[in-house]
Amino acid sequence: MNTSVLQTELSNYTEQFNSRLPEFFPLNGRPEGRVVEAMKYSVMNGGKRLRPFLVYQTGRLFDKNFEDTLRIAVSLECLHSYSLIHDDLPAMDNDDLRRGKPTCHKAFDEATAILAGDGLLTYAFELLSDGKIPASADIQIKLVSLLANAAGAFNGMVAGQMLDLYAERSPELNTETMIKHIEEMKTGRLIRYACEAGAVFAGASEVETKALIDYSRKIGIAFQIADDLLDVEGEQSLVGKTLGKDKTQGKLTFVSLYGVDKAHQLAQTYIDEAQELINRQFGSRANILSALADFIINRQY
Ligand code: IPE
Ligand code: IPE
Ligand code: MG
Ligand code: MG
Ligand code: MG
Repeated sequence: MNTSVLQTELSNYTEQFNSRLPEFFPLNGRPEGRVVEAMKYSVMNGGKRLRPFLVYQTGRLFDKNFEDTLRIAVSLECLHSYSLIHDDLPAMDNDDLRRGKPTCHKAFDEATAILAGDGLLTYAFELLSDGKIPASADIQIKLVSLLANAAGAFNGMVAGQMLDLYAERSPELNTETMIKHIEEMKTGRLIRYACEAGAVFAGASEVETKALIDYSRKIGIAFQIADDLLDVEGEQSLVGKTLGKDKTQGKLTFVSLYGVDKAHQLAQTYIDEAQELINRQFGSRANILSALADFIINRQY
């Protein structure tokens, strides 16, 4: 599949997804509605919608459609957006720009941004557990549990974020094993959840689910390597974030460990492996997931 077919799929999906988001954020005009405004600002302000697209595409392998997968996709995008709001806070990466717009704490204020993150995190689980996902109770519980694990402090995104900050102050941790571990947890776990959730929701077999998990783990690491490369080589107007920050903040990444060229090679290796895995299991049914793997490392934003 050529890249432009994928680009069209992704942009059609994004348009449809964005057009449905407002209904999930009713504003009530009450003073506390400010936090909902900040939540809505942070979810609606662009974004590639890669994780929702993965939920959808994984579900589509098993004949689920946009509408079937929407609630799971919105829930995940809420959780992801919370992680970005908190990641940008002065106590964390201290960023002013996100998705080409002022970060939540700049557009509102720090306390509101903290609460908006809390609100989105909580809302992600409300969306999964309010009985409106068109699946059995067992599947709904499984989705809640998978998301909690992927986002959490034991082996999930929060753990990865802790290690990311800790490693910044501990250069002796600059080893491939440690960096891979950080990138797998802080970014990889939510990407893995996107594919696993689609598979669980759609009733994929164990073998199919495993192939999707293996694929998602590889693209997850490649995705973060690409993010680290964009921080060095990207065009700020396209990326929509302040660039060059990983170096000034002393972040440990594959780029800091190996340099740009080797990081590109490594990302390409993960992508090749991911494509081989997914093609072996699903053949041409997985054309979009395969093309998406290429997009992940060739993207400019
Ligand atoms: C950025 O994620 C943060 C990382 C985990 C690397 P994305 O690059 O998916 O950000 P948006 O959602 O498109 O803004
Ligand atoms: C963030 O990694 C991963 C998250 C869990 C939010 P980065 O700190 O590199 O993400 P950006 O570059 O700010 O989007
Ligand atoms: Mg960070
Ligand atoms: Mg950051
Ligand atoms: Mg980054």
